[in-house]
Amino acid sequence: MESKVLDGLMRPKSIAIIGASTDPTKIGYTVVNNIIKGGYEGSIYPVNPKADEILGLKSYKSLQEIPGEVDAAVITVPSKFVLEVVDEAGKKGVKGLIIITSGFGEVGNKELEATVVAKAHEYGMRILGPNIVGTLSNSEKLNASFAPLLPLPGKGALVSQSGALLIAMDMATFTRRVGFEKLISIGNMSDVDFADLVEWLDKDETTSCITLYIEGIKDGRKFMNAAKKATKPVIALKAGVSAHGAAAAASHTGSLAGAAKVYGAAFQQAGVVQATDLGNLFDLSLALSLQPPMKGDNLVIITNGGGVGVLATDAAERFDLPLKFAPKDVQEELKKHMPVFGSAKNPVDLTGMAGYDWYHDSTKFVFSHDWADGLVVLYCETAMTEPMEIAQGIKKALDESGMLGKKPVTVSFVGGDKSEKAMQWLVENEIPAYGAPDLAVHAISALREYDRMKEIISEPEETITTANKEIALKAIKAARDDGRDSLTEIEAKQVFSAYGLPVTTTYLAKSEEDAIKLAKEIGFPIVMKIVSPDILHKSDAGGVKVNIKDEAGCRDAYKTILTNAKAYKADANIHGVAIQEMAPWGTEVILGSVNDSTFGPTMMFGLGGIFVEVLKDVTFRVAPVSKKSALRMISEIRGAPILAGVRGEAPRDRVKLSETISSYAQMIVDLSEEISESDANPVLVYEEGKGLKVADARIILKKK
Ligand code: COA
Repeated sequence: MESKVLDGLMRPKSIAIIGASTDPTKIGYTVVNNIIKGGYEGSIYPVNPKADEILGLKSYKSLQEIPGEVDAAVITVPSKFVLEVVDEAGKKGVKGLIIITSGFGEVGNKELEATVVAKAHEYGMRILGPNIVGTLSNSEKLNASFAPLLPLPGKGALVSQSGALLIAMDMATFTRRVGFEKLISIGNMSDVDFADLVEWLDKDETTSCITLYIEGIKDGRKFMNAAKKATKPVIALKAGVSAHGAAAAASHTGSLAGAAKVYGAAFQQAGVVQATDLGNLFDLSLALSLQPPMKGDNLVIITNGGGVGVLATDAAERFDLPLKFAPKDVQEELKKHMPVFGSAKNPVDLTGMAGYDWYHDSTKFVFSHDWADGLVVLYCETAMTEPMEIAQGIKKALDESGMLGKKPVTVSFVGGDKSEKAMQWLVENEIPAYGAPDLAVHAISALREYDRMKEIISEPEETITTANKEIALKAIKAARDDGRDSLTEIEAKQVFSAYGLPVTTTYLAKSEEDAIKLAKEIGFPIVMKIVSPDILHKSDAGGVKVNIKDEAGCRDAYKTILTNAKAYKADANIHGVAIQEMAPWGTEVILGSVNDSTFGPTMMFGLGGIFVEVLKDVTFRVAPVSKKSALRMISEIRGAPILAGVRGEAPRDRVKLSETISSYAQMIVDLSEEISESDANPVLVYEEGKGLKVADARIILKKK
């Protein structure tokens, strides 16, 4: 049902333009003109209170006058008239509205926007926009927008949150020679959002790949679910990753969780391929709309020049697809299909003499061989060869291999006009071709990354069952009852402990005598820390003493800590001093969380101490996090070898660590209504089989 309504919006059999105009300077004129020029074959109904005819078409005074059904209505009247027009459209039985008009949520007019959406929903209509350029589809020959032309035809769809950029990209399809089947301007996303379009485009037969230019997503989880379910590649370019979230963070994790990290994690978890910039957005769209995913790591590069071969080899390593030599027998066989003075290693170097035949034969052999999972063919223009002939040789070989569509291939020609023409011909024949070797490698690596992500998504998720949410909520309630929005270390450890996190034994001493008694109970050596909701950074306040070996030391530390705390913040509310077991040395890591405004509870993991402070060597996942996914987090940070065991050090207990990350993630999901940010830092990780200890804990609550 839902998708039928969107069909009416995206593939209308009839379209009305409300606010159509005879004045060529108006958007209402341009839209009618574009629809006619584009060759749309459905019924076109201009609506204008005064005109009888617009651009040779009969014009209607109102929607009600239109004799036939109207699937979609493009609205180009000023914002103050939009609500009334939406009501009329509803009465007429219009299915979808393309609201080009600006002046809604984007300028603070949120109430009007919400009212318009509510009115449309009363009639079961969906809205694209407002504040959009419109929508364009080559297969429908429909340019329902004020962008000048339908884009160069291609197989992918491009959805853009920026209208101006959509028009610019429309024009750029001709200069970059990367076509699109559809361009959709999504604007304020008052109703139809990225998730709705991903879902709809995934079912749309004319779309092979979905490319998104994103400034901000409203409902992160809805988007992730739609992208995860998509059977076609989804590519996203996220703009505005530089200054999000980092402000006003009270935890380490909060200060590290910028949009780049959290969106990056969400995209990865949802199987969305991330484009790095506009150029890359086009490059990846070309490859992912034309070629299938790469299902293994064996990439072969064929070249006629050492230089481009080396550049491509470097790129392959940079994009996580390092080259391997083919097995000896494959190399021996390959030698029969290339010049004797060439190299059958990887890159396969045909040398500068190689013409049609060698390109054809080696390409056919490699692409049809089981060992190769993907192929990049490079060519440097030479005086002895014709680029178009080489292109034709490559294409013929690919066709004859019978493997086109089963494994991916990309091509790069470096040269002049002839090379450009040859590449254009290749693209027209659905072989992605690029002007530089690293671009061809980047594109094929995206096809590999896409396959890897999809495989991970298909893994079953294990859930944690040992949690005791009630105990955790009790500790949180104690802080709330006390009027606080941060937990003391002792309370935070109670919450962690309720989720099975192994915290260091910690008691609260309210007097020196208390401290001695508790220290003896724990056993020396001990750690002592100030407990005050007003002192979050305890070390900065001189509020932490470690390795206290005896009673005298304990008395001394008690006095010093209180004196330092008072000097640091005279009016601090001091609960007492925490007496803690001194955990033996282990590798320091940090676990933490933020409650991201788009994606909700999100988990962070990284090496602790200087690594987190200076190198920011951390990784994120939108929670929950399965144990397998947690193991991947552990192995993807730069410092992973430290945990794997370097220089004779025993490997650390990564299994226990992965379980702890997974439990922590479950905790932030269960308590997402309560916890805003949190850190377990440091967490000391011991040798394999010996577990870990959470030595310090911080939880900041959501403000209520
Ligand atoms: N039904 C049908 N037509 C109506 C109408 C109604 N209820 N109310 C007004 N109209 C007609 C007007 O008479 C006019 O036609 P005319 O030229 O024959 O007089 C036409 O609709 C347009 O109205 P007008 O008042 O002239 O507005 P405009 O064309 O100057 O501006 C918008 C209208 C929508 C273009 C403008 O408000 C706007 O939002 N511009 C920004 C759009 C934009 O950039 N969007 C994308 C951002 S990325």
